[in-house]
Amino acid sequence: MAAAVVRSDSDALSETDTPLTRGVLAVVYAAAEMPLEDCKALMDGFQAAMARGLAGQESDLKMLPSFVTELPTGKEAGTVYALDLGGTNFRVLRVVLPGDGGEIKTEFRSFALQQCHMTGCGEADLFPFLASCIKETVEQLEGSLPGADEPLPLGFTFSFPTQQSALNQGTLISWTKGFCASKCVGCDVVAMLQKALNALGVHVVVKALANDTVGTLMALRPKEPNTSLGVIFGTGTNGCYVEQMSKIGKWTGGDVTSGRQCINIEWGNFGASVPSRKLLPVTRHDEALDTESLNKGEQILEKMIGGMYIGELVRRVFNAAADAGEIMSGRKERIEAGGLNTELASAIEASDAPGLVKILEQLGVPAPAASDAKALQKIAMAISGRGARVSACAIAAIVQHMERVGTPTVVGIDGSVFKCYTNFKARIEACMRDIFGDDALHIKLQLSEDGSGVGAAVIAATA
Ligand code: GLC
Repeated sequence: MAAAVVRSDSDALSETDTPLTRGVLAVVYAAAEMPLEDCKALMDGFQAAMARGLAGQESDLKMLPSFVTELPTGKEAGTVYALDLGGTNFRVLRVVLPGDGGEIKTEFRSFALQQCHMTGCGEADLFPFLASCIKETVEQLEGSLPGADEPLPLGFTFSFPTQQSALNQGTLISWTKGFCASKCVGCDVVAMLQKALNALGVHVVVKALANDTVGTLMALRPKEPNTSLGVIFGTGTNGCYVEQMSKIGKWTGGDVTSGRQCINIEWGNFGASVPSRKLLPVTRHDEALDTESLNKGEQILEKMIGGMYIGELVRRVFNAAADAGEIMSGRKERIEAGGLNTELASAIEASDAPGLVKILEQLGVPAPAASDAKALQKIAMAISGRGARVSACAIAAIVQHMERVGTPTVVGIDGSVFKCYTNFKARIEACMRDIFGDDALHIKLQLSEDGSGVGAAVIAATA
């Protein structure tokens, strides 16, 4: 029998629910449903936060100007390097832009950050390491290092909230996604990278700084001229879009010929303030995860959707349901911290019954009951399904803000959750159909492969 639990204040129950009779699983499954009226309320709150951010008022949504005011046409030409940093693995890319709208050629090297790079000193550990990886890649791919008279341009994809003051200047506002390297917040990350490159005598010039969402939008635009949003569903999550300059009330940067600019929303931070958190279907499991995170109280929406968190949430809910006696019939085994990542959560959703039993065995539950294995799958579906609905609401809110409902709109998307997570894309599309009906058919979610790196190179090429 399911044990009765007293809900925490934040469990996503409606007024009419009788919390004392609801168990862990019932609360989590209900939170995942997100009825249409909740989706619409979330969209309204999201749009209000966008408006405040654009006006320079206090808001969960930072609405950061990217200084990208011209959209690429495919005429950009040249060989440009890109550094794509946003998670534990990063890449250095060599991008050849043909200039005639033809195929862009990319080669890249991948590197892994060690814990010391993410949590040590930015100036002494992280940036010197990044510069050394750029040096190694350039040497390999060019055959030698460039001379001082022929420096190579580089676009820096830096996927963290950054306040830019120019295309090639930006200070880190705060770390996200488990990074906490010291002496970086409040510093110009372009200057730090350039200094580290100079120290190694590498003639590479950092021409542009771009968020991964902005790169993703830019990379797809020449192929898909209706691309108006760039989105990442990866380790973290975020979106950007093309805004009219007249709507960016806080802009003090002077005239912009095109009359528009790409805005990095930093949507992962929605829910940091109490009123917006109330619009998200958060449960006590989300709150516990947040409390134990490096950036407590921040990035609440991201912690419901990001690849860094989905698997961990599934684990927490499974264990909590077992603790409450709703599953596992009194068995004592629990899934260990760090044992269930998002890739595995996706595999759980795609598994048949024997596959599920095997996975639960790998997770430390020998000979599990079929019902417990099935419950694990249902929990994963609830957590990722909720993430997909919240994602759909964010995209829908932006499309509506842009007054593009019913107008063909392409959303350029990159990131492992979008590319690999079972049914994630289809669930976003289903929720957008709930919200917009047939008008949702005008919104195309399109993979922008390698968009984050290639886009930064495109931006650097025009700088
Ligand atoms: C985090 C970062 C944001 C980035 C996103 C996806 O939310 O703050 O800048 O775009 O992750 O990588």
